[in-house]
Amino acid sequence: MENRRNIIMDGDPGIDDAVALALAAAHPEAFKLLAFTTVTGNQTIEKVTENARRLVEFYGLDIPVAKGSVIPILRKIETASDIHGSNGMGNVVIPEAVRPLASDNAVLFLYEMIRDLPEGEKVTLVPTGPLTNIALLFRVFPEVKERVEEIVLMGGAAFGGNVTSTGEFNIYEDPEAAAIVFESGLPIVMCGLDATNLCGIDRETAGRLAGEKGSICKAVGEMVQFYLNGPAYSDKPYASIHDAVTYMYLLHPEIFQTRKMPVSVDCSEGMNRGMTVCDTRKWSYQEEPTTTVLLDADSEKFQEYLVDAVYELDRRLAK
Ligand code: RIB
Ligand code: CA
Repeated sequence: MENRRNIIMDGDPGIDDAVALALAAAHPEAFKLLAFTTVTGNQTIEKVTENARRLVEFYGLDIPVAKGSVIPILRKIETASDIHGSNGMGNVVIPEAVRPLASDNAVLFLYEMIRDLPEGEKVTLVPTGPLTNIALLFRVFPEVKERVEEIVLMGGAAFGGNVTSTGEFNIYEDPEAAAIVFESGLPIVMCGLDATNLCGIDRETAGRLAGEKGSICKAVGEMVQFYLNGPAYSDKPYASIHDAVTYMYLLHPEIFQTRKMPVSVDCSEGMNRGMTVCDTRKWSYQEEPTTTVLLDADSEKFQEYLVDAVYELDRRLAK
């Protein structure tokens, strides 16, 4: 499988982070998952790290987990217990992990893993939480940027927000970190709310998954049902699985509409804190922008491919 992409996931599981990892784990032909590093976001660092350790084993992945930033660079911690539950996984309990934590310093861990990649190889970073770890990595070890192929992140929006009318959670939580990442000069794919709000699992499908005998289908179904019954989706036909759009874009870019444009982050304290300002004025920049923004998605195809992947992972692990 020579054309597999080296992947390091950095996230805050988190229901949609958990489902995103299942999608990635179901596609070993496309992704060589190297590690999972955790960051405070949906829940505290202790909870998201415990969840990450359990998830990698639950999905049959033999990869290290490293604990990352406890607090955003400047801002206060604001978790999302109401959306993701007190344990961060919709209060769904999966088996405890056996493998110990690989490191309690994700920034150093990321540096050493990227530095030690086989010669000529690069890594794709897939952040699905606040960008604190990635920003600190680039500040402490700027030389690793040469080994980063691209960053495919869930965050931001060309229009709108969820925490506020213009702030999306991952950027809003740590806008300074996001600014550092968007100013890194690296190729970035921004999987923002313009596309991720259209990408989800509907009530009927969540119910079907929750009723399955397979442990992964059942866990995913129950987590999504928690989402659907919570404040964010109780009045909607489906729950957005925001973070899974990262891997779905890498697998099926054809189901998304994209546009390259410069993106900068509002780091003010005001009403637009964490806004990703997407510059659509083609005349305003000479060089080709390095950021690709997802602007639309095929909701049906997204759900079809994602649910197929969850069933496939269950089938494979049941063997
Ligand atoms: O705004 C959605 C994002 O915030 C997702 O990554 C979700 O897991 C939360 O972290
Ligand atoms: Ca997340």
